[in-house]
Amino acid sequence: MTWQGRTVFALLYSTVFVSLVASQGTNLGGGITTRIAVGEYADLSLDLRDIRAFVDANNMNSALGMYLQGSHAEFVAGQRTPLKITTDAVSSAERTTPWYLFHLYGLASLSTDPMELEQHKSYAGNYIQKVFTTNLEVAESAILALGLWMYATHLLFDGVAICEMRTRADNPALFNLAGGGMDEFIALWIGSDQTVATANGHGLYAWAHTIGERFGTASPEAVVNVRLKALYQEGSGTLTVSRACTSANQNSVALLHTTAVQMTNLMVIPLYQWLIYSLIEQDAAAVKLYATALIPQLSKCRPSTFKRLKSSLLNDSINFDKTNATIRDLQSSYYCFDITCEDIGIFNGDNRLQCIRKDEDRRIAGFLPSKSTEPLHRMDLDVKQLKMLTAVQGTLFAQLLYSHGSNVPKARHSENDPFTYHSLSELATTTARQDADPIFSDYTSYHGDKDYAHKYITSVLSGLSKWTTPQQNGEAVGLTSAYHILFVTAVGRMNAAIKSCHGAAADPNATVGETYQWDEAAMLIIGSMEGPILGGSPDLGDGEFTYGLANRHAFQFNTRNDLGYSKVISDIENLLFAGKGELDAGDCDNFERTANKLQKILFVPVIQSSIASASESHSLSPSSTSLSLTRGEIFSMSVIPIIHTEDPLIAELLMRLAKPSKTQLVCRV
Ligand SMILES: *[C@@H]1O[C@H](CO)[C@@H](O)[C@H](O)[C@H]1NC(C)=O
Ligand SMILES: *[C@@H]1O[C@H](CO)[C@@H](O)[C@H](O)[C@H]1NC(C)=O
Ligand SMILES: *[C@@H]1O[C@H](CO)[C@@H](O)[C@H](O)[C@H]1NC(C)=O
Repeated sequence: MTWQGRTVFALLYSTVFVSLVASQGTNLGGGITTRIAVGEYADLSLDLRDIRAFVDANNMNSALGMYLQGSHAEFVAGQRTPLKITTDAVSSAERTTPWYLFHLYGLASLSTDPMELEQHKSYAGNYIQKVFTTNLEVAESAILALGLWMYATHLLFDGVAICEMRTRADNPALFNLAGGGMDEFIALWIGSDQTVATANGHGLYAWAHTIGERFGTASPEAVVNVRLKALYQEGSGTLTVSRACTSANQNSVALLHTTAVQMTNLMVIPLYQWLIYSLIEQDAAAVKLYATALIPQLSKCRPSTFKRLKSSLLNDSINFDKTNATIRDLQSSYYCFDITCEDIGIFNGDNRLQCIRKDEDRRIAGFLPSKSTEPLHRMDLDVKQLKMLTAVQGTLFAQLLYSHGSNVPKARHSENDPFTYHSLSELATTTARQDADPIFSDYTSYHGDKDYAHKYITSVLSGLSKWTTPQQNGEAVGLTSAYHILFVTAVGRMNAAIKSCHGAAADPNATVGETYQWDEAAMLIIGSMEGPILGGSPDLGDGEFTYGLANRHAFQFNTRNDLGYSKVISDIENLLFAGKGELDAGDCDNFERTANKLQKILFVPVIQSSIASASESHSLSPSSTSLSLTRGEIFSMSVIPIIHTEDPLIAELLMRLAKPSKTQLVCRV
């Protein structure tokens, strides 16, 4: 046996040993007993109980003292660990975790500048300490929503990170997996002294139950608590498997990451409920608190909605006249956490909380995909989040997102199929990319590798990048995902639709009108973040895909219509609708013409971007920190291979390009 073999054996032995002594786990009631002892996490809730008693007695000093010094939890034997740990552990962590990073990004108004992010680092601790003197009545809620809540997300993702590092390591025993984040999480969530399916307790479980009852989502146990407990069992199962999180069992990371993403998404349910409740009750102090806990997370979703909510809710003066519009904006963001209007429920029969029609949920810009499609338009959230995590150097979590996905659940054909997400890395390497020929072959032969996009992103994420700043790295992986990975997927879906249309015409038994491939192409062209909101007009800066790109560059090329939107957009929309109609009618020849035309038009915004970035960056040095430099290169890499092939489409492309201000740049491209 090699030395490494012995280590693995020793580790295996210790894992077995740990599972033999599982009776030493912590019994949290309600059917939950953890694998390892994590009572100290549960005991933090007893400090909360005492704080509530001090607040009820209007004894601010004792309440604050309990928060700062603690009484019941001992993370190290003989030393009290106060609730303050919940904010300190997150902000000074060795590895800052994704929900916290997105919070800072939101508080910094979508800036990834390290100086700006740094300013918000202690937002939670500062807020909590301040409310003890300004709004003592919300102190306990502030500790729950800002302190324990974020710490809970941190524990889950830190567990995934340790699992990932162990899996890669030659000697996994160097990394202490402890409860893998799962045991720690569930103990923190439920707390000590919790009676199942009631609000009798002091932790996040009771907090979620209280508001769940008001929204009709706790009968008898709050839905969020039921689902978190079930997911805890799944995560715990992943960690119990022999050699979990070692190179001998590499699947643990993907499973654990997927479970952590699902759990943290569910955790926003009580935050939305408390925020909506406080809005309806016009409780300004509570609105401010819950908005501070929730709204910065919306920085990972549609930017215009985030900005509107931030300016109306994270504002010194809250205007309750705007509550109806605010609720609509909040509802439009549920999908970003894969939760629904039913999950949130209805408070006090308020008809503003009635679910919008399911169809509206799926509509993307003006286009309504068929029911059989997977929500691929949400891949733009993966792109956006990957870009951001890379730009703030949350590299390990960027890698996990890239490899395992986070936003687009795969269709499951039976309850027994495991829950997984579509990932960019899977779409970057699947053989289905060949459906995008001839374009895919043009790319492959130009770059000399059919997995070139995957390899490029992997190398940037592992620190091998020629770019000067993390922001440039973010731009590079984001644009490569959108315009090299997903663009090719979209073209592939169109070609597959052509093929199956012709195939269906030849097969008398086939059902006409199967349009899902075409719909999926549309979803990958438009994305989930486009379209009008509240009956108004679309925002120009929201999207990550071709559709948004067309809008952003149209003004530079004088190709806008009277409303300020790109003319290319109307061409794209018209062709998408035409194609759908032709497919429905089984008119395959015309459908093929439409699809080919659309493929050509899609290159217009890409070429425009390539020219615009070149024009902005032609005098910059290669070590410049400008994002134009990165944009210019990534876009050119998706245009040049096509032009190289002397395809006749170049004529059409150049014809459609309005003259840019710097004409000579056309020749460069
Ligand atoms: C606060 O609200 C006012 C009025 O709606 C708005 O003009 C202002 O920009 C908001 N402040 C912030 C910081 O968003
Ligand atoms: C908001 O919605 C409620 C309930 O639908 C309605 O009664 C009220 O008039 C609306 N307020 C405004 C300002 O539109
Ligand atoms: C169509 O269905 C019939 C009856 O199920 C079957 O016998 C026939 O082979 C099918 N034709 C094709 C082309 O699949």
